[in-house]
Amino acid sequence: MRRRHLRGVMAIERQVYPRPWSPNLFLSEMAETRNRCYLVARIDKEIVGYGGLICYGEEAHVTNIAVDPEHQRNKIGMRLLHDLIQNAVAEGAQAVSLEVRVSNYGAQRLYGKFGFRPVGVRKNYYQEVNEDALVMWVDDVNGAEYQKRLRGLAEQLPDGVRP
Ligand SMILES: CC(C)(COP(=O)(O)OP(=O)(O)OC[C@H]1O[C@@H](n2cnc3c(N)ncnc32)[C@H](O)[C@@H]1OP(=O)(O)O)[C@@H](O)C(=O)NCCC(=O)NCCS
Repeated sequence: MRRRHLRGVMAIERQVYPRPWSPNLFLSEMAETRNRCYLVARIDKEIVGYGGLICYGEEAHVTNIAVDPEHQRNKIGMRLLHDLIQNAVAEGAQAVSLEVRVSNYGAQRLYGKFGFRPVGVRKNYYQEVNEDALVMWVDDVNGAEYQKRLRGLAEQLPDGVRP
């Protein structure tokens, strides 16, 4: 993700979240190049999705992932998550975690495909909507078995989305 992508990213962010990140928050995340990875998905020049990750040594945490509502269910979220996890592994991660609204079944299904399992609940984490967060976690992402799973998922992606 680059500064020039911010307008397209914010247009999606404001549509999909009740409490969107501010442009400054994206900029400060982008500035932390040492242990952050922020990716955008584009169709031609249009930003259609993005996702981000923080690496804390052996653990990486997905901070954000979103796809333009007009382009959802085209496996763009899968491609973004695939690439985020690959980046996490390249940075030395063995496990990846994230939070998701307990009612966000679509996102939870996506994460389930990548082996994320619920490991806990953070009460009222999303105060703007009075909702709990499910903490999801996947281990051994750097192992041969998981890498095979990732390759299998990548092969399922349609032309143009596949890595
Ligand atoms: C969650 C999100 C990123 C998924 O992106 P996407 O590109 O639409 O997802 P994909 O097309 O890659 O979906 C892959 C699989 O995940 C599951 N899935 C994704 N969205 C789903 C939905 N709304 N309902 C049910 N299952 C869903 C399905 O199993 C889907 O495969 P299928 O379409 O073959 O059934 C997108 O819905 C989004 O931006 N939501 C708003 C922001 C958000 O909630 N982000 C997550 C915060 S934790």
